[in-house]
Amino acid sequence: MITTKGLTKVYQSRGREVTALDGVDLHVREGEVFGVIGQSGAGKSSLIRCVNLLERPTAGTVTVDGADLTALAGRGRRPGKDLRAARSRIGMVFQHFNLLSSRTVRDNVELPLEILGLSGAERTRRALELLDLVGLADKAKSYPAQLSGGQKQRVGIARALAGNPKVLLSDEATSALDPETTRSILQLLRDLNQQLGLTVLLITHEMDVVKTVCDSAALMEKGKIVETGTLTDLLATPGSRLARELFPVTGDASGPESTVIDVTFHGETATQPVISQLSRTYNIDISILGAAMDTVGGRQVGRMRIELPGRYEDNVVPVGFLREQGLQVDVVPAAPGAEPAPVTEALVKEAAK
Ligand SMILES: Nc1ncnc2c1ncn2[C@@H]1O[C@H](COP(=O)(O)OP(=O)(O)OP(=O)(O)O)[C@@H](O)[C@H]1O
Ligand SMILES: [Mg+2]
Repeated sequence: MITTKGLTKVYQSRGREVTALDGVDLHVREGEVFGVIGQSGAGKSSLIRCVNLLERPTAGTVTVDGADLTALAGRGRRPGKDLRAARSRIGMVFQHFNLLSSRTVRDNVELPLEILGLSGAERTRRALELLDLVGLADKAKSYPAQLSGGQKQRVGIARALAGNPKVLLSDEATSALDPETTRSILQLLRDLNQQLGLTVLLITHEMDVVKTVCDSAALMEKGKIVETGTLTDLLATPGSRLARELFPVTGDASGPESTVIDVTFHGETATQPVISQLSRTYNIDISILGAAMDTVGGRQVGRMRIELPGRYEDNVVPVGFLREQGLQVDVVPAAPGAEPAPVTEALVKEAAK
């Protein structure tokens, strides 16, 4: 539904060049919720602004729903008719809502419909329908200042849906909201995704957002996508940084003469029999260092960190046994600090500011 190829954006700022996007190949499938996560300055906003051509890419192409937007953009400074039409099929939700304070809620939602040239009666009908969809039917006559943050964002979402878009872009739509409201807005995005078959591309710096609503995710770093895939595939990718943070397990080895492994299992499979079978079959003592169950992308996933006696070379057979049972096994590097720093560490600090 959204494809970028070699997308590059270089800003000229005070005689210096800043490469915000460095050859991004993104692929968002129809009907999925796709999350892009990364540290501040990674290029996330530049990416989303290039996807709807609010920002003109320096190089590369953007295709949305089969239309090559970069070709439609032409060379002029102002967007032409074709680009405007294609863009009306892409809704955009902003972090700070961007509502007009002098207009009522209904009038804010009507604004894009005015631009699309709908008659007054049609606009009103459609606006009320959209407000109902986002759960704000009773607030049509209120002004933005009379609404809570979450309600303002619902208006922002209703407005974004005005042109019947197939694609919704969201840049940090929940980062100005408290956790409870964040959950309700994420639920709304999920519902819209399912009810309307809307494809959603969202930018966030919170792993929890990815975990709650996304089907797929990409990690951005210095203008590049360094990891991407469905959450299920990422969790099944050994060494995936996104997976490690989507679903962290911790626990340290008790000494140098042991092997620590992370075992990941999907679905409701009970691991206990597998672990006890392993113990019986090879007559080894197994310590459980950490374990957790969680729902990631709507699926139950479990992770367990266990310790086997002996070095890795001594445990090739038991590890093979676990893999044969269909479990994913990642060997945890022995030296403390061998694991790379978490990608969201800086983001957590950023959010706390
Ligand atoms: N209009 C601009 N002119 C010059 N440089 C820019 C402009 N917009 C962004 N940049 C630079 O491009 C890089 C990427 O910025 P971008 O806003 O895309 O990052 P981001 O991942 O959205 O960050 P954040 O999480 O803080 O929103 C940064 O180095 C930024 O300073
Ligand atoms: Mg940004």
